[in-house]
Amino acid sequence: MGIFFDDANRLFFIETPGTSMCLALADEEGFLCNAYYGAAVGRDDLRYLLGGKNNPAVPSRNDRDRGCYFDKTRLEFPSGGTGDYRNPVICVRDAGGHDSSLFTYVSHRIYEGKEEISAEMTDGRKVRMPAAFPGKAGAQTLRIVLEEKVLGLRAYLSYSVFDDSDAILKSVRLTNESDTTVILDKLLSSNLDLDLSCFENHEPDIVTLSGSWARERRMDRRRISRGNSEVYSTRGESSHQFQPFMALCENGADDSKGRIYAQTLIWSGNFVCGAGMDQFETVRSYIGISPEHFTWDLKPGESFQSPEAVLVFTEKGFDGMSHIFHDLFRGHLIRSPYLYSERPILINNWEATYFDFNTDKLLDIARDAKKCGIEMLVMDDGWFGKRDDDNSSLGDWVVNEKKLPGGIERLSGELEKMGMKFGIWFEPEMVSPDSDLYRAHPDWAISSPGRVPTRIRNQYVLDITRSEVRDHVYECVAKILRSAKISYVKWDMNRQLSDLGSTGLDASSMGRLSYLYTLGVYDLQERLLEEFPDLLLENCSGGGARYDAGMLFYSPQIWCSDDTDAYERLTIQAGTEMIYPLSTMGAHVSASPNHISGRVMPFDVRGAVALSGTFGYELDITAIPDAERESIPEQVAIYHSVGDIVREGDYYRIARVSDIELYDAWMSVTKDKKRALLTYVQCKGSPRTGKRVIRLKGLDPDMMYSLKLIGSDDENSRFCSHGKKHDWKILAPEGAVSGKSLMNAGLMLPVLWGEYGQMMFEIRQV
Ligand code: GLA
Repeated sequence: MGIFFDDANRLFFIETPGTSMCLALADEEGFLCNAYYGAAVGRDDLRYLLGGKNNPAVPSRNDRDRGCYFDKTRLEFPSGGTGDYRNPVICVRDAGGHDSSLFTYVSHRIYEGKEEISAEMTDGRKVRMPAAFPGKAGAQTLRIVLEEKVLGLRAYLSYSVFDDSDAILKSVRLTNESDTTVILDKLLSSNLDLDLSCFENHEPDIVTLSGSWARERRMDRRRISRGNSEVYSTRGESSHQFQPFMALCENGADDSKGRIYAQTLIWSGNFVCGAGMDQFETVRSYIGISPEHFTWDLKPGESFQSPEAVLVFTEKGFDGMSHIFHDLFRGHLIRSPYLYSERPILINNWEATYFDFNTDKLLDIARDAKKCGIEMLVMDDGWFGKRDDDNSSLGDWVVNEKKLPGGIERLSGELEKMGMKFGIWFEPEMVSPDSDLYRAHPDWAISSPGRVPTRIRNQYVLDITRSEVRDHVYECVAKILRSAKISYVKWDMNRQLSDLGSTGLDASSMGRLSYLYTLGVYDLQERLLEEFPDLLLENCSGGGARYDAGMLFYSPQIWCSDDTDAYERLTIQAGTEMIYPLSTMGAHVSASPNHISGRVMPFDVRGAVALSGTFGYELDITAIPDAERESIPEQVAIYHSVGDIVREGDYYRIARVSDIELYDAWMSVTKDKKRALLTYVQCKGSPRTGKRVIRLKGLDPDMMYSLKLIGSDDENSRFCSHGKKHDWKILAPEGAVSGKSLMNAGLMLPVLWGEYGQMMFEIRQV
């Protein structure tokens, strides 16, 4: 594996342990084409895959029909306006307004390692962009330089691989080497043209994740169409509505098998991600920053850096795809010291009190929590300014002494005496119209002249593209963190961008605002982690609207959704886990009936679902039934005993309630396959069927295992009918059982009494 250039045949081989991508320099002019991407191949002359070594349609042999060539060849960096009428990766206009371009090969370099990528704010501050890094693995990078001769532009295409990952990282930097300004209207991070043979000659399915507030990341699957199918965000965040993710898969692909090409973007702002089939049944898929609300006047000598795209190929279905993403993000993107360590089990007061709390109430919660083994109290929204609801005070990050006499110092001091850690909520990027900050600096809000900015949750967005605003925002957060012992910050963002306008940008650079805004967020969080390296940061955006790979560069965990209903969470979490490791998924046990859905759900089921994420509580522990409070220590003990399997293991889907309605089940298996956690959640009873067979996954077929039911003290108590206990046991072989029996014959589980129930099994090698 590695990266190799076959000089004689002008082919690049970009190889990961299990995959190969072969790029070809076609024709004498040097068009960069994609000859092959998929399961590993030899370093053979694959030019025939582009239609023959001496393709008569190539421009040098058939100048009469250049357009035919551009419109049907699998191009790696397709530009618009010269004959390829499919979706271009770049759109650029010259000073006269002409928008055609054509990029051809100049040179390349292959080197060990992988460089950081960065971009500049308008004040010249360089901001490191989130991107995968080698970590402990060996890395190789291919840098291909393409040029647009007429416009004097150069595109630097980067491809990196790690020796322990089947992902390919791609990004582009465009430099204006001419002496006139050009206008960049679009530059995507990646284009991938695939032949239909990649999908066994059948039109592939497109899989995306979509939703809304409290309904994030639900899997959508549909047949590809002629013409493009796109998901996107123009909201200034990756969004509740769509994920920067798309998978193209064979029709028969499922969780366990099938060829899948997937892509995501390490970016937290506007994006577009699409795919479509052309007249010749080539599939073109692409991902990058959305061209909506984007233009960039690229001045002489100036560069524009795209975010990094992640490309994944697997033949092992969605589980295989997830494993590649999970391992890449854990090994090469999340920098936090908490990545693999136990996170303090927290209790958050949002659903417990909303805005109605004071120091005494928080200490009461903390006291009861401490008795149950909970380790940290997180004070959510409402501790500052005069904020008793969501209509005021964002921007006024001064403690409300009426609620918290003695301030944060006193509260955190009391918690420390109790042996509890302390965490706090901020929404640093926002300002309320009713705030001292807004009254003093109305021009600090993003807005267009002559237009009252649209209010969302009665708040505006601060223009953090301006350095004085960013510095102020940073100081507000840092000052609080310096004032007390604070272990954790929940960084929220509760509205989208609109009315794009900044007093810091002139007409020629206004189209940069959305891009610079995202860089501004990165700059703020980077500074925070530099000054407070031990801080545990959890990103959040009205639930999960900024759950993306970009944020994982800063925070090892992200609040998954404001919907804490364990039943709803099964689908939200299954969608999230398609791309993101379980260790990143903010999941809490909340009160029943659930505050969003009204659903009534047993406490142990709520626990089982939260235990497959970061785990914590979000309820008034002083007010829940005694029986629930009494079962918290057992849930806490489960987290301590099997949490590492969830954080570090491989995740396997066994059943999705979104497909089969009756139940949901999944597993985490340690890399050495010696330990596993199986979680089964029954969502519907099913009278008279009696049993369900669950086939396990991911174990070593030849290892012998023992199974232990955890989280249910009395195994028989739920296996009843007519309200009476029955002596039904979990039907599995007594004693040790082989991995192959568990995976092929399976485990026979009884149908539980009532609608919702759970069973968790700790599985160990014996
Ligand atoms: C967002 C978050 C919630 C909570 C509220 C506070 O909605 O997702 O968890 O912090 O803000 O206003």
